[in-house]
Amino acid sequence: MKTVAVLVGSLRRDSINRKFAESLAKLASDRLKFQFVDLGDLPVYNEDLWANPPASVLGLKAAIDAADAVLFVTPEYNRTFTPVIHNAIDWANRPWGKNSWAGKPAAITGTTPGATGTAAAQNSLRNIVSVVGAYLMTQPEVYFTYKPEVFDAEGAITNPETRAFLSGWIDSFARWIDRVGA
Ligand code: FNR
Repeated sequence: MKTVAVLVGSLRRDSINRKFAESLAKLASDRLKFQFVDLGDLPVYNEDLWANPPASVLGLKAAIDAADAVLFVTPEYNRTFTPVIHNAIDWANRPWGKNSWAGKPAAITGTTPGATGTAAAQNSLRNIVSVVGAYLMTQPEVYFTYKPEVFDAEGAITNPETRAFLSGWIDSFARWIDRVGA
């Protein structure tokens, strides 16, 4: 089964984006294996640290290099994606000549309590994900307004229409990985 490194752009304990990502992992488990990457220990990008790279940086790059694809699950902060995601992208983009994103199949989603469902954040993130050379699935899109009642006590999505919609998106991502993956 193909593996997907999942980067959640929130470090918050009760992050709705992490909950959403975990529910997607459950839903995808018969097709894709989601592996969550810990971004909590990454220092803010500093070129000098490459002299003795932190284990968190090497771990991030190893996780992306080993995965068949990458999924970004971003909150929306002030109509863009979060610094946690930007920082992870910058770290794994370096050192020069060892860009972990190059040719990696990728997808973006995210959730917010707001009605726009992270549309602005995802739109901004598309630019940078493309710039670093990942092969981004641009369609279909998932803009998810978070409503607690859509999830059961185990975090699975219960609403049948929502399940079907997200399951279709996972199918598309699995096909995208097969088509463009190395
Ligand atoms: C937000 N939030 C937010 N929501 C939104 O829909 N559009 C936005 O532009 C913003 N801007 C914003 C800025 C900052 C600094 C914060 C802290 C929050 C609200 C945000 O969607 C909400 O806090 C989510 O719960 C964040 O996701 P996690 O951390 O729960 O995954």
